Amino acid sequence: MPRLILHAGDLLEVDTDVIVNAANSSLLGGGGVDGAIHRAAGPALKEACRLLAPCPPGEVRVTEGFGLAPRLIFHTVGPIWQGGQRNEADILANCYRNCLGELSRRGLGRIAFPAISTGAYGYPAAAAARIAVMVCSRHPAAQGKDIVFAAFDPQNRAALASAMNALP
Ligand code: APR
Repeated sequence: MPRLILHAGDLLEVDTDVIVNAANSSLLGGGGVDGAIHRAAGPALKEACRLLAPCPPGEVRVTEGFGLAPRLIFHTVGPIWQGGQRNEADILANCYRNCLGELSRRGLGRIAFPAISTGAYGYPAAAAARIAVMVCSRHPAAQGKDIVFAAFDPQNRAALASAMNALP
């Protein structure tokens, strides 16, 4: 079993091997988590990302952390919520699956996720939290790992806590 941890606050505060960025396909930064990570990592991050773009929704691109404490940043692109009939759930699940796969391949022990797609991309918090917790609790690559969910706002905090409490 993985250890699932709810961090009520800023993703950038979390002590972790890997931090996950809620990016867009251009990987050139934006607002929210993306803006916070690029501000903290510094301009070299954008140069590194330029070489890795574009990143299709559901996939992951990996850079070093540059000015950030975590060794690596996993840039993943969540789905834009369009009502739930455009395969959004599977694309969101793939974000978590692919990040866990990269964590396992690198033999690292701890990863910190924001609530991917629940901000600018409009994914309903409760549905997104259920996907995040279900994938991270069951995925073979998560076994034995520390999985931190950084919930910046009360709505995501409640949604993640509820999804974690519902685990068997
Ligand atoms: N720490 C933890 N969570 C945060 C932080 C932070 N520093 N900043 C924002 N959040 C939360 C938001 O409250 C939201 O619940 O992360 C969640 C994801 O929000 P966004 O950052 O808007 O990401 P997303 O919904 O995936 O939209 C991605 O927004 O910033 C642009 O370039 C990005 O185009 C992309 C889009």
